Amino acid sequence: MKLLRPCLLLALGLTTFTLAAQVKAPGAAPARHTAAPASPRVALTPPMGWNSWNYFAGKVTDQDIRNAADAMVSSGMRDAGYIYINIDDTWEGQRDADGVLHSNSKFPDMKALADYVHSKGLKLGIYSSPGPKTCAGFEGSLGHEQQDADLYASWGIDYLKYDLCSFIPAVMYKQAPNDPAGRMKLMIAAYGKMHDALAATHRPIVYSLCSYGWDSVWEWGPEVGANLWRTTGDISPEWDRVYTILEEQKGLAPYAAPGHWNDPDMLEVGNGKMSLAENRSHFSMWAMLAAPLLAGNDLSNMKPEIKAILTNRDVIAIDQDQLGRQARYIYSSGEVEVWSRPLAGGAMAVAVLNAGDNLYTTHPFHLNLARLGLHGPQKAKDLWTGKEMELTEGMPLEIPSHDILLVRIAQPK
Ligand code: GLA
Repeated sequence: MKLLRPCLLLALGLTTFTLAAQVKAPGAAPARHTAAPASPRVALTPPMGWNSWNYFAGKVTDQDIRNAADAMVSSGMRDAGYIYINIDDTWEGQRDADGVLHSNSKFPDMKALADYVHSKGLKLGIYSSPGPKTCAGFEGSLGHEQQDADLYASWGIDYLKYDLCSFIPAVMYKQAPNDPAGRMKLMIAAYGKMHDALAATHRPIVYSLCSYGWDSVWEWGPEVGANLWRTTGDISPEWDRVYTILEEQKGLAPYAAPGHWNDPDMLEVGNGKMSLAENRSHFSMWAMLAAPLLAGNDLSNMKPEIKAILTNRDVIAIDQDQLGRQARYIYSSGEVEVWSRPLAGGAMAVAVLNAGDNLYTTHPFHLNLARLGLHGPQKAKDLWTGKEMELTEGMPLEIPSHDILLVRIAQPK
């Protein structure tokens, strides 16, 4: 079980004593959900798009979403594959007497917003919680799952991020205070319930679980119809956090497949004070991990060098490879890590990451091709310089601190 990040802890603290559980009594934890897997119509490759949380957080408005859609088109990102424009937390208003949820004053007309986003050739995503409140303390979907799914479908929503949040204190701890396994069953059932509600709308909606990796979500996510599931707590725009999350992905490769992806959280490329090398490494490794590529920066005010990272088509092609095989960690030498993933048509991607804070090129890393299952010189393309190169056994590689060598080998030998 991963640690909760501060904003979630705050939300949990706020909700613990105020929320009434609305489902079954203690000891009556439902059996493991067995919903049919998510429709293969969506997320056959990892979803690509943008999400409002990492940059706008609670301040996001309808206008910010429209601006993001406009910038997605004008920057060339849409044409590079970024399709989903996802509204995260804080759009929710109140329920009316019939229980129908309304958006708040920041989002005056959700249907009109969806129409606008669709008119740009993009899709719209939204956010809720299986609990009574979201992480930011707004209205959640507990007890209104079908009503909310129907509402999303009527607006034309294409993607739902469903964030555990207040379900933990309000249901899991209330109903199964002394039964950790029972708490997890409640969580799994809640995710299955929303999947069934979405399926009943007959609208293709990408289903994204946000349960911070709890109870090895990668093992049960497909059973509850998830297309992707968060594997960790929240990301933040600092190299240390990005690298910690990367380390937590070791061993998860077997669980990724077309339609079902591990989600190491949304991108921080262009946010905070990360160097260009760090942004490049973050983007490269998320592509190696077959992670959803959801940009989290202010697209309307993006520096050209950040746009160049986010629109590197060779790197995007690694992420979107049709085989859908997530990279495996192969070996380390000191602070340099080597990862690889097989690609369609017998090709292979290799990433060599210098994770050292103070590891300079005065001590070059020597590449071990045999450990990658390769024999003899290999023709490769460096995906950041665009140049062809040759990899040879034991060759010295000079990679600056926190930077990366990412190559595609078309015909590995
Ligand atoms: C949690 C999630 C974040 C974001 C916030 C919104 O912390 O993990 O990605 O959605 O909630 O409140």
